[in-house]
Amino acid sequence: MDLNVLVLPGDGIGTEVTRQGVRVLRHVAAKWNHQLNLTEGLLGGIAIHKTGTPFPDETARLAAQADATLMGAFGLPEFDNAPPDKRPEKGLLALRQALGVYANLRPVRTYASQLDASPLKNHLVEGADMIIVRELTGGIYYGTPRGITEDGAETRAVNTMTYTRREIERVSRMAFHLARARRRKVTSVDKSNVLENSQLWRRVVIEIAREFPEVELDHLLVDNCAMQLILNPRRFDVILTENMFGDILSDEGAVLAGSIGMLPSASIGDRRPSGAWVGLYEPVHGSAPDIAGQNKANPLGAIGSVAAMLLYSFGLKEEAAAVDRAIEAVLESGRVTADLRPSGAPATTEQVGEAVCAAIG
Ligand code: IPM
Ligand code: MG
Repeated sequence: MDLNVLVLPGDGIGTEVTRQGVRVLRHVAAKWNHQLNLTEGLLGGIAIHKTGTPFPDETARLAAQADATLMGAFGLPEFDNAPPDKRPEKGLLALRQALGVYANLRPVRTYASQLDASPLKNHLVEGADMIIVRELTGGIYYGTPRGITEDGAETRAVNTMTYTRREIERVSRMAFHLARARRRKVTSVDKSNVLENSQLWRRVVIEIAREFPEVELDHLLVDNCAMQLILNPRRFDVILTENMFGDILSDEGAVLAGSIGMLPSASIGDRRPSGAWVGLYEPVHGSAPDIAGQNKANPLGAIGSVAAMLLYSFGLKEEAAAVDRAIEAVLESGRVTADLRPSGAPATTEQVGEAVCAAIG
């Protein structure tokens, strides 16, 4: 099979973990005889430095042509005070929107070998296995009007949380489809006791649920969900929620997995005429400039994102499962980076990538 993949390493540890993701991708392509065609592009802080904009036209063109895009992380401290349009994160948000990847799938699971890496008690996190489906191209991240109007003490900042029925319907269907292949339970998360936006969300989710009678649906308010994630994480199978709530809850989910470095993500949009899903794959973690360039970032989120790419964009189930199994084997071997608090000397980013390839065989 031809695998046309665009790689956008980005900033900070993004370049290091992406290198290991690509290494695993090359390994899989060689082992299963796929033709891997890689292109590399600029996005985020590095793109601002080299082209003056976080989302160059060339990157948009490359992403539209690729079957799938693998990304690192975006953000650099020198842009902390830059206006929103000149920030690295803007590149990421613009790319998500340009590709129309409206469903962000963020699996969160605990590994038996890593229970001690979580600050939570083992008996609470053991066996937790969920997937957060975060709406990714709507809501307060993109709503207008937005901006800051300067006026002394009356200076005002506005953001708008907006969803259409259509936007809620398509991401809900994605969540129910996923639930059907799992434990058949969707928990929709909103703030419908306060926000009209959430009231529409809940109404539409209930309607879509009727198309999936075999899937159980329940609702949680986002504040309660934040608490239940810690108190009783095993109660969750698929969490369906809007953009900003999903952003926040998925970082909380990282605490269950032991480290945010572990978490992969897949952002999926509609199907291309070829039948392939448009997909953007990235670890959930950020660019972590404080540890960049030290070969100590955890590449397993990036490598897990490669597994997700093989599965969702290319339908390569066997290859994806082999990568996932290799991740599990490496975790069991204890050759893990410092964030997972190994008992012996921590492994480097490169060593973990190498170990995953070796475990794939
Ligand atoms: C994420 C990140 C991004 C987001 C930032 C970097 C813009 O936090 O992917 O979770 O908020 O979506
Ligand atoms: Mg986030």
